[in-house]
Amino acid sequence: MYPLLRQLLFLLPPESAHVFSMLAWNMLHPLFPNRMFEPTPQPVSIGKLQFKNPLGLAAGFDKNAAYLAPLFKLGFGSIEIGTVTPKPQLGNPKPRLLRLPSNQALINRMGFNNQGVLHVQKNIEKFRNKHANNNSMIGGNIGKNKDTPLQDAVNDYLICLKTLASLVDYLVINVSSPNTPGLRELQKPEYLENIFYKLQEANIYQKPLFVKIAPDLSLHELTNIAHSALKYNLTGIIASNTSLNRVHLTSINQQKADQFGFGGLSGSPLLSNNLTIIRHLKSVAPNLPIIASGGIQNSLDLQHYREAGAKIFQIWTGFIYQGPFILKKISNFVPK
Ligand SMILES: Cc1cc2nc3c(=O)[nH]c(=O)nc-3n(C[C@H](O)[C@H](O)[C@H](O)COP(=O)(O)O)c2cc1C
Repeated sequence: MYPLLRQLLFLLPPESAHVFSMLAWNMLHPLFPNRMFEPTPQPVSIGKLQFKNPLGLAAGFDKNAAYLAPLFKLGFGSIEIGTVTPKPQLGNPKPRLLRLPSNQALINRMGFNNQGVLHVQKNIEKFRNKHANNNSMIGGNIGKNKDTPLQDAVNDYLICLKTLASLVDYLVINVSSPNTPGLRELQKPEYLENIFYKLQEANIYQKPLFVKIAPDLSLHELTNIAHSALKYNLTGIIASNTSLNRVHLTSINQQKADQFGFGGLSGSPLLSNNLTIIRHLKSVAPNLPIIASGGIQNSLDLQHYREAGAKIFQIWTGFIYQGPFILKKISNFVPK
Protein backbone atom coordinates (compact mmCIF):
# COMPACT_ATOMS: atom_id res chain seq x y z
CA MET A 1 0.00 0.00 0.00
CA TYR A 2 2.75 2.48 0.89
CA PRO A 3 4.51 2.20 -2.52
CA LEU A 4 1.31 3.55 -4.12
CA LEU A 5 0.96 6.35 -1.59
CA ARG A 6 4.66 7.14 -2.03
CA GLN A 7 4.21 7.41 -5.79
CA LEU A 8 1.48 9.99 -5.24
CA LEU A 9 3.42 11.88 -2.58
CA PHE A 10 6.52 11.92 -4.78
CA LEU A 11 4.51 13.87 -7.37
CA LEU A 12 4.71 16.80 -4.95
CA PRO A 13 7.90 18.72 -4.20
CA PRO A 14 9.63 16.97 -1.24
CA GLU A 15 8.95 19.59 1.41
CA SER A 16 5.29 20.01 0.36
CA ALA A 17 4.85 16.22 0.49
CA HIS A 18 6.19 16.23 4.06
CA VAL A 19 3.90 19.06 5.18
CA PHE A 20 0.89 17.57 3.40
CA SER A 21 1.36 14.07 4.81
CA MET A 22 1.84 15.37 8.35
CA LEU A 23 -1.32 17.52 8.12
CA ALA A 24 -3.29 14.62 6.67
CA TRP A 25 -2.05 12.11 9.29
CA ASN A 26 -2.74 14.64 12.02
CA MET A 27 -6.37 14.76 10.90
CA LEU A 28 -6.81 11.05 10.27
CA HIS A 29 -4.88 9.44 13.12
CA PRO A 30 -7.81 9.39 15.62
CA LEU A 31 -9.50 6.86 13.30
CA PHE A 32 -6.63 4.37 13.61
CA PRO A 33 -5.59 1.98 16.39
CA ASN A 34 -2.97 3.12 18.87
CA ARG A 35 0.72 2.38 18.19
CA MET A 36 -0.35 0.54 15.07
CA PHE A 37 3.08 -0.24 13.67
CA GLU A 38 4.68 -0.79 17.06
CA PRO A 39 7.55 -3.27 16.91
CA THR A 40 7.61 -6.27 19.23
CA PRO A 41 8.39 -4.75 22.65
CA GLN A 42 12.13 -4.63 23.16
CA PRO A 43 12.74 -2.26 26.09
CA VAL A 44 16.20 -0.70 26.14
CA SER A 45 17.72 1.44 28.85
CA ILE A 46 20.46 4.02 28.66
CA GLY A 47 21.27 5.25 32.15
CA LYS A 48 17.95 6.28 33.66
CA LEU A 49 16.20 6.45 30.29
CA GLN A 50 13.84 3.56 29.59
CA PHE A 51 12.96 3.24 25.89
CA LYS A 52 9.86 1.12 25.09
CA ASN A 53 11.54 -0.01 21.90
CA PRO A 54 14.84 0.93 20.26
CA LEU A 55 13.36 2.62 17.17
CA GLY A 56 13.30 6.40 17.37
CA LEU A 57 12.33 9.21 15.04
CA ALA A 58 15.39 11.38 14.35
CA ALA A 59 15.52 15.15 14.78
CA GLY A 60 14.25 17.42 12.04
CA PHE A 61 11.11 15.46 11.23
CA ASP A 62 8.94 17.24 13.79
CA LYS A 63 10.98 20.36 14.38
CA ASN A 64 8.28 22.23 16.31
CA ALA A 65 6.85 19.31 18.31
CA ALA A 66 3.59 19.93 16.45
CA TYR A 67 2.81 16.29 15.64
CA LEU A 68 3.82 14.35 18.73
CA ALA A 69 0.48 12.55 19.21
CA PRO A 70 0.08 11.38 15.59
CA LEU A 71 3.73 10.32 15.40
CA PHE A 72 3.73 8.40 18.69
CA LYS A 73 0.58 6.70 17.44
CA LEU A 74 2.70 4.94 14.82
CA GLY A 75 4.74 3.18 17.51
CA PHE A 76 8.09 4.96 17.82
CA GLY A 77 9.94 4.27 21.06
CA SER A 78 11.19 7.86 21.12
CA ILE A 79 10.80 11.08 19.17
CA GLU A 80 13.45 13.76 19.00
CA ILE A 81 11.94 17.18 18.37
CA GLY A 82 13.90 20.15 16.96
CA THR A 83 16.40 21.34 16.18
CA VAL A 84 15.02 24.23 18.18
CA THR A 85 16.71 27.63 18.44
CA PRO A 86 16.00 30.45 20.94
CA LYS A 87 14.38 32.75 18.35
CA PRO A 88 12.11 31.55 15.55
CA GLN A 89 13.78 31.49 12.14
CA LEU A 90 12.65 30.78 8.59
CA GLY A 91 15.63 28.72 7.48
CA ASN A 92 17.03 28.80 3.97
CA PRO A 93 14.97 29.74 0.89
CA LYS A 94 13.07 26.93 -0.86
CA PRO A 95 13.67 24.56 -2.57
CA ARG A 96 15.86 23.12 0.18
CA LEU A 97 15.14 19.40 0.04
CA LEU A 98 16.04 17.00 -2.78
CA ARG A 99 15.06 13.34 -3.28
CA LEU A 100 17.55 10.84 -4.68
CA PRO A 101 15.41 7.67 -4.79
CA SER A 102 17.88 5.40 -6.59
CA ASN A 103 20.26 5.92 -3.64
CA GLN A 104 17.45 5.91 -1.03
CA ALA A 105 18.83 9.30 -0.03
CA LEU A 106 17.91 12.94 0.48
CA ILE A 107 19.87 16.17 0.47
CA ASN A 108 18.62 19.02 2.63
CA ARG A 109 19.68 22.54 3.47
CA MET A 110 16.73 23.43 5.69
CA GLY A 111 18.81 25.66 7.99
CA PHE A 112 17.05 25.14 11.34
CA ASN A 113 13.65 26.44 10.24
CA ASN A 114 11.65 26.41 13.49
CA GLN A 115 9.15 28.46 15.44
CA GLY A 116 11.49 29.15 18.35
CA VAL A 117 11.90 27.53 21.73
CA LEU A 118 8.95 29.25 23.47
CA HIS A 119 6.51 28.03 20.85
CA VAL A 120 7.96 24.51 21.01
CA GLN A 121 7.77 24.58 24.81
CA LYS A 122 4.03 25.29 24.57
CA ASN A 123 3.51 22.47 22.08
CA ILE A 124 5.24 19.91 24.32
CA GLU A 125 3.36 21.21 27.36
CA LYS A 126 0.06 20.74 25.51
CA PHE A 127 1.02 17.20 24.55
CA ARG A 128 2.16 16.31 28.09
CA ASN A 129 -1.05 17.75 29.64
CA LYS A 130 -3.31 15.93 27.21
CA HIS A 131 -1.46 12.62 27.55
CA ALA A 132 -0.61 12.79 31.23
CA ASN A 133 -0.56 9.02 31.77
CA ASN A 134 1.57 8.30 28.82
CA ASN A 135 5.31 8.03 29.37
CA SER A 136 6.27 8.89 25.79
CA MET A 137 9.99 9.45 25.41
CA ILE A 138 10.73 12.89 23.97
CA GLY A 139 14.21 14.17 23.18
CA GLY A 140 14.84 17.90 22.72
CA ASN A 141 17.42 18.66 20.06
CA ILE A 142 18.81 22.17 20.56
CA GLY A 143 20.90 24.52 18.41
CA LYS A 144 21.89 28.12 17.87
CA ASN A 145 20.29 30.83 15.75
CA LYS A 146 21.99 31.59 12.46
CA ASP A 147 22.83 35.17 13.50
CA THR A 148 24.39 34.22 16.86
CA PRO A 149 28.19 34.48 16.65
CA LEU A 150 30.04 31.24 17.47
CA GLN A 151 31.62 32.70 20.60
CA ASP A 152 28.10 33.36 21.99
CA ALA A 153 26.60 30.05 20.83
CA VAL A 154 26.73 28.59 24.31
CA ASN A 155 24.10 31.11 25.44
CA ASP A 156 21.65 29.87 22.78
CA TYR A 157 22.11 26.28 23.96
CA LEU A 158 21.60 27.45 27.56
CA ILE A 159 18.35 29.25 26.71
CA CYS A 160 16.99 26.16 24.95
CA LEU A 161 18.06 23.80 27.72
CA LYS A 162 16.51 25.95 30.46
CA THR A 163 13.25 26.32 28.53
CA LEU A 164 12.78 22.67 27.61
CA ALA A 165 14.50 20.68 30.37
CA SER A 166 11.45 20.15 32.57
CA LEU A 167 9.41 18.85 29.62
CA VAL A 168 11.71 16.50 27.73
CA ASP A 169 13.35 13.23 28.77
CA TYR A 170 16.75 14.03 27.30
CA LEU A 171 18.50 16.84 25.44
CA VAL A 172 20.71 16.72 22.38
CA ILE A 173 23.40 19.31 21.72
CA ASN A 174 23.40 19.66 17.96
CA VAL A 175 26.79 20.92 16.79
CA SER A 176 26.74 19.05 13.51
CA SER A 177 24.20 20.44 11.07
CA PRO A 178 26.05 21.47 7.89
CA ASN A 179 23.39 24.08 7.08
CA THR A 180 24.08 26.67 9.77
CA PRO A 181 27.32 28.40 8.76
CA GLY A 182 30.14 27.64 11.18
CA LEU A 183 28.09 25.37 13.46
CA ARG A 184 30.40 22.40 13.00
CA GLU A 185 33.30 24.50 14.37
CA LEU A 186 31.62 23.98 17.73
CA GLN A 187 32.80 20.36 17.62
CA LYS A 188 36.34 21.62 18.35
CA PRO A 189 37.38 21.01 21.98
CA GLU A 190 37.80 24.71 22.80
CA TYR A 191 34.09 25.35 22.06
CA LEU A 192 32.66 21.94 22.85
CA GLU A 193 34.05 21.55 26.36
CA ASN A 194 32.80 25.01 27.32
CA ILE A 195 29.32 24.11 26.02
CA PHE A 196 29.33 20.78 27.89
CA TYR A 197 30.54 22.45 31.09
CA LYS A 198 28.01 25.32 31.02
CA LEU A 199 25.07 23.08 30.10
CA GLN A 200 25.85 20.57 32.84
CA GLU A 201 26.15 23.47 35.30
CA ALA A 202 22.66 24.68 34.28
CA ASN A 203 21.20 21.17 34.12
CA ILE A 204 19.26 21.37 37.39
CA TYR A 205 16.82 18.64 36.36
CA GLN A 206 19.83 16.40 35.63
CA LYS A 207 18.45 15.50 32.22
CA PRO A 208 20.63 13.15 30.18
CA LEU A 209 22.67 15.13 27.65
CA PHE A 210 23.75 13.73 24.30
CA VAL A 211 25.92 15.35 21.63
CA LYS A 212 25.04 14.84 17.97
CA ILE A 213 28.12 14.71 15.76
CA ALA A 214 28.89 15.05 12.06
CA PRO A 215 29.87 12.01 10.01
CA ASP A 216 32.67 13.99 8.37
CA LEU A 217 35.12 14.01 11.30
CA SER A 218 38.55 12.35 11.45
CA LEU A 219 39.16 9.46 13.85
CA HIS A 220 41.30 11.81 15.94
CA GLU A 221 38.44 14.32 16.21
CA LEU A 222 36.05 11.51 17.13
CA THR A 223 38.39 10.38 19.90
CA ASN A 224 38.56 13.93 21.28
CA ILE A 225 34.77 14.27 21.29
CA ALA A 226 34.33 10.93 23.04
CA HIS A 227 36.85 11.93 25.71
CA SER A 228 35.17 15.31 26.21
CA ALA A 229 31.78 13.62 26.49
CA LEU A 230 33.12 11.34 29.21
CA LYS A 231 34.91 14.20 30.99
CA TYR A 232 31.69 16.22 31.26
CA ASN A 233 29.49 13.26 32.09
CA LEU A 234 27.40 13.27 28.94
CA THR A 235 25.02 10.33 28.61
CA GLY A 236 25.99 9.46 25.05
CA ILE A 237 26.66 10.37 21.45
CA ILE A 238 24.31 10.44 18.48
CA ALA A 239 26.19 9.35 15.37
CA SER A 240 25.45 11.00 13.13
CA ASN A 241 23.99 14.01 11.33
CA THR A 242 23.89 14.46 7.54
CA SER A 243 27.10 14.35 5.51
CA LEU A 244 28.87 16.71 3.12
CA ASN A 245 30.45 13.71 1.39
CA ARG A 246 28.65 12.72 -1.82
CA VAL A 247 31.07 10.11 -3.17
CA HIS A 248 28.74 7.18 -2.50
CA LEU A 249 26.05 8.59 -4.81
CA THR A 250 25.63 7.21 -8.34
CA SER A 251 27.14 9.52 -10.94
CA ILE A 252 23.67 10.64 -12.10
CA ASN A 253 22.74 11.53 -8.55
CA GLN A 254 26.05 13.32 -8.08
CA GLN A 255 25.10 15.52 -11.03
CA LYS A 256 21.63 16.13 -9.59
CA ALA A 257 23.21 16.94 -6.24
CA ASP A 258 25.67 19.37 -7.84
CA GLN A 259 22.80 21.15 -9.57
CA PHE A 260 20.91 21.38 -6.27
CA GLY A 261 23.92 22.90 -4.54
CA PHE A 262 24.99 22.77 -0.90
CA GLY A 263 23.25 20.64 1.71
CA GLY A 264 23.63 17.55 3.89
CA LEU A 265 23.20 14.04 2.53
CA SER A 266 21.09 11.51 4.45
CA GLY A 267 19.96 7.94 3.82
CA SER A 268 21.68 4.74 2.69
CA PRO A 269 24.99 6.28 1.53
CA LEU A 270 25.76 7.19 5.17
CA LEU A 271 25.65 3.67 6.52
CA SER A 272 29.13 2.24 5.98
CA ASN A 273 30.98 5.33 7.22
CA ASN A 274 28.69 5.56 10.25
CA LEU A 275 29.51 1.98 11.17
CA THR A 276 33.22 2.89 11.13
CA ILE A 277 32.47 5.91 13.33
CA ILE A 278 30.51 3.89 15.87
CA ARG A 279 33.11 1.10 16.01
CA HIS A 280 35.78 3.73 16.61
CA LEU A 281 33.78 5.47 19.35
CA LYS A 282 33.20 2.11 21.01
CA SER A 283 36.92 1.32 20.85
CA VAL A 284 37.93 4.56 22.59
CA ALA A 285 34.97 4.82 24.99
CA PRO A 286 33.44 1.34 25.36
CA ASN A 287 30.93 2.40 28.03
CA LEU A 288 29.62 5.50 26.28
CA PRO A 289 26.16 4.71 24.85
CA ILE A 290 25.65 5.40 21.15
CA ILE A 291 22.45 6.27 19.31
CA ALA A 292 22.77 5.39 15.63
CA SER A 293 21.32 7.69 12.97
CA GLY A 294 22.02 7.36 9.29
CA GLY A 295 20.73 5.21 6.48
CA ILE A 296 18.59 2.71 8.38
CA GLN A 297 16.22 1.19 5.80
CA ASN A 298 15.89 -2.44 6.88
CA SER A 299 16.60 -4.97 9.58
CA LEU A 300 20.04 -5.82 8.25
CA ASP A 301 21.15 -2.18 8.52
CA LEU A 302 19.88 -2.14 12.07
CA GLN A 303 21.65 -5.40 12.84
CA HIS A 304 24.96 -3.95 11.58
CA TYR A 305 24.52 -0.94 13.85
CA ARG A 306 23.66 -3.18 16.78
CA GLU A 307 26.78 -5.28 16.21
CA ALA A 308 28.86 -2.08 16.02
CA GLY A 309 27.59 -1.23 19.50
CA ALA A 310 24.63 1.15 19.08
CA LYS A 311 21.66 0.81 21.44
CA ILE A 312 19.00 3.04 19.91
CA PHE A 313 18.32 3.39 16.19
CA GLN A 314 16.86 6.57 14.75
CA ILE A 315 15.10 6.79 11.42
CA TRP A 316 14.43 9.73 9.09
CA THR A 317 15.12 9.13 5.39
CA GLY A 318 14.06 5.48 5.68
CA PHE A 319 10.66 6.69 6.84
CA ILE A 320 10.25 8.68 3.60
CA TYR A 321 11.14 5.71 1.39
CA GLN A 322 9.53 2.86 3.38
CA GLY A 323 6.69 4.68 5.15
CA PRO A 324 5.55 3.83 8.68
CA PHE A 325 5.74 0.12 7.82
CA ILE A 326 9.47 0.47 8.36
CA LEU A 327 8.88 0.10 12.11
CA LYS A 328 7.38 -3.38 11.90
CA LYS A 329 9.50 -4.42 8.97
CA ILE A 330 12.72 -3.70 10.80
CA SER A 331 11.92 -5.14 14.17
CA ASN A 332 10.17 -8.31 13.11
CA PHE A 333 13.36 -9.66 11.61
CA VAL A 334 15.82 -8.55 14.22
CA PRO A 335 17.09 -11.19 16.58
CA LYS A 336 17.82 -9.57 19.96
C1 LIG B 1 15.01 17.25 5.92
C2 LIG B 1 15.89 16.91 7.09
C3 LIG B 1 15.96 17.78 8.17
C4 LIG B 1 16.79 17.48 9.25
N1 LIG B 1 16.83 18.34 10.31
C5 LIG B 1 17.61 18.03 11.37
C6 LIG B 1 17.64 18.89 12.49
O1 LIG B 1 16.95 19.90 12.56
N2 LIG B 1 18.45 18.55 13.53
C7 LIG B 1 19.24 17.42 13.51
O2 LIG B 1 19.94 17.15 14.48
N3 LIG B 1 19.20 16.58 12.46
C8 LIG B 1 18.42 16.86 11.40
N4 LIG B 1 18.39 16.02 10.34
C9 LIG B 1 19.27 14.82 10.34
C10 LIG B 1 18.51 13.59 10.81
O3 LIG B 1 18.07 13.73 12.12
C11 LIG B 1 19.42 12.34 10.72
O4 LIG B 1 20.43 12.45 11.69
C12 LIG B 1 20.06 12.17 9.36
O5 LIG B 1 19.14 12.47 8.32
C13 LIG B 1 20.59 10.74 9.15
O6 LIG B 1 19.56 9.79 9.28
P1 LIG B 1 18.76 9.16 8.02
O7 LIG B 1 19.79 8.66 7.06
O8 LIG B 1 17.91 8.09 8.63
O9 LIG B 1 17.99 10.26 7.45
C14 LIG B 1 17.57 16.29 9.24
C15 LIG B 1 17.47 15.41 8.15
C16 LIG B 1 16.65 15.69 7.09
C17 LIG B 1 16.57 14.73 5.93
